[in-house]
Amino acid sequence: MNEMTPLLSGRWSPRGFDQTHVLGSEQVECMLQAARWAPSAMNRQPWAFVVGRRGEPVYERLEKVIRGVSDWALGASALVLAVYRTEGSEPDYALYDLGGAVAHMSIQAEAMGLHVRQFASYDHEGARTEFGIGRDWTPVTVLAVGIPAPEAAPVGRERKAVADLTPWQ
Ligand SMILES: Cc1cc2nc3c(=O)[nH]c(=O)nc-3n(C[C@H](O)[C@H](O)[C@H](O)COP(=O)(O)O)c2cc1C
Repeated sequence: MNEMTPLLSGRWSPRGFDQTHVLGSEQVECMLQAARWAPSAMNRQPWAFVVGRRGEPVYERLEKVIRGVSDWALGASALVLAVYRTEGSEPDYALYDLGGAVAHMSIQAEAMGLHVRQFASYDHEGARTEFGIGRDWTPVTVLAVGIPAPEAAPVGRERKAVADLTPWQ
């Protein structure tokens, strides 16, 4: 098999979600399991998440820090705030590790027929206040999870050439 897995080649980030689609709690659990099994420096697993499915009180609290900034995400089946632990001597690795965990989570979502769009445009300080996240942790992105809205379509999926990925050789 010399082709990229369709889980990766078929992935795209919708900017609009079906507001009637309901995500099962077992699907959320699967996504958290996928994050849990991501590699990390010294196996520190320096990640944590705030997860809400539409209809749950935590979802409404997540919406509060998104509203007015990324309104397209409101009504997605689930919202997930991704946070990394900044305490310690190697914070850059922690941020790197969180990215890996979120990649695992996103591809697991794809494998379950779902889509994810991450976004950094939300009220970061508001998220800290809302969920009592101290300075030893840093919120990074929110993931909107679900099924694309009928009008949502892949855009901006251009990429650098493979040759550009190896500039020193
Ligand atoms: C760290 C990060 C921050 C992002 N922030 C936003 C954002 O604030 N708003 C948005 O609409 N998309 C955001 N995105 C989504 C990217 O724009 C999107 O992944 C990129 O254009 C490639 O599209 P694709 O995921 O469909 O391949 C973000 C993605 C990442 C990984």
